[in-house]
Amino acid sequence: MRITRTGSAFRRCVQVMALPAILLVSLAAGQAAAAGIADTRHNLSTSNPRAGENRVTAGTEDICVFCHTPHGADITAPAPLWNKNLGSLTGYQTYASLNSSTIDGTILTVGSVSLACLSCHDGTQAMDNIINAPGSGQFDTTGGGATGRAYTWDTTTGRVDADGKLIGANNAALLGTDLRNDHPIGIQYCGGGPNATTPAGACRDIDFVAPQNATINTNLVWWVDTPGGTAGTRQRTDVVLYTRDFGGTNGPSVECGSCHDPHVPAATPTQVAFLRVSNTGSALCLSCHVK
Ligand code: HEC
Ligand code: HEC
Ligand code: HEC
Ligand code: HEC
Repeated sequence: MRITRTGSAFRRCVQVMALPAILLVSLAAGQAAAAGIADTRHNLSTSNPRAGENRVTAGTEDICVFCHTPHGADITAPAPLWNKNLGSLTGYQTYASLNSSTIDGTILTVGSVSLACLSCHDGTQAMDNIINAPGSGQFDTTGGGATGRAYTWDTTTGRVDADGKLIGANNAALLGTDLRNDHPIGIQYCGGGPNATTPAGACRDIDFVAPQNATINTNLVWWVDTPGGTAGTRQRTDVVLYTRDFGGTNGPSVECGSCHDPHVPAATPTQVAFLRVSNTGSALCLSCHVK
């Protein structure tokens, strides 16, 4: 994916220089800490200094390794250089079985990037299930199985067990395998798909913002432009749609990664992290839904 980060180091630098020196020190420190995934709940390593978050106290200081590996990745996985085992494709209950009388789009079985998210968030396997663990000669295609690599987890959060599985009755991060109470995923965009791919398709259904598309490496990719990025180019702050097969026709699908980018810290302390678009005023919802 082509990513352009908004807020370049240069611009931040200029902003900081305009402030009094005393503020400069604290602000610069704060910004350094808020710079990326290291300052999120997706830093599961011992390098995450914050108490109260799910992380290992012994096992690895690496951050990316819980999801990616530079070598030996699972190429059947629907996420890049993926380093963990995935759940069963048919092991989930989807929004389709609610039989909502207003739904227009086809709902596919769980797949695409959503399956990668659920490899931790459904709570069925340890989060330290890692195919290529850090260090030399640590390759194991099973990732250690459902109980993972036997890293030591900080269980005082009450939201993770000693194996590293998400647990807890009131744990909103534990989506489980019953996805009927979650926003539909694997759902065709546009209320039944766009009318055409070229030019960027108008929606069958006026209830949706029309998506953009482009061909990259002969693959058709889709997204919805948001005010956070440059119109007509796909960026991290755009709502990404994932190409899937809807009954013989490839089309745009809404997945976990449409609303969330798993690397990005919260814009404000009160916001849930990883949202591609701030949801103030329900801006995220309104980037797709015309309501
Ligand atoms: C909690 C899991 C997780 C962790 C940890 C993680 N990633 Fe990712 N990453 C993903 C997923 C899932 C995708 C696919 C996202 C998508 O399809 O939009 C991805 C996509 C990417 C991509 C390609 C798309 C993009 O956004 O640029 C790059 C590059 C990447 N990750 C780098 C990293 C690096 C470097 C680290 C460590 C500093 C890291 N990731 C840590 C889950 C993770
Ligand atoms: C390696 C395991 C793992 C993977 C893979 C993973 N997550 Fe997470 N995620 C976690 C953990 C652990 C937490 C923190 C849960 C807690 O502390 O209660 C979390 C928290 C979150 C949160 C809440 C953040 C907040 O500020 O409260 C969101 C949103 C989220 N994940 C989305 C995703 C999405 C979307 C994907 C796929 C693109 C994904 N995750 C993949 C482990 C994972
Ligand atoms: C249509 C957009 C959308 C999709 C698709 C979506 N999410 Fe979310 N998700 C959100 C929003 C918005 C929030 C923040 C809600 C809030 O502020 O309480 C959120 C919150 C979360 C949280 C944090 C819950 C909490 O209160 O701590 C997790 C974890 C999460 N999502 C994971 C996922 C996973 C995994 C998927 C795919 C199975 C997914 N999301 C699909 C929009 C979405
Ligand atoms: C990535 C685009 C996208 C985003 C962002 C998004 N949605 Fe959706 N949403 C869809 C699609 C597509 C459907 C399926 C509609 C259909 O086919 O009729 C849907 C379905 C729904 C439904 C179920 C409709 C039914 O008929 O059962 C509700 C309710 C909903 N969305 C609310 C929200 C809310 C609230 C938010 C913000 C937290 C949100 N959506 C964000 C694309 C999106």
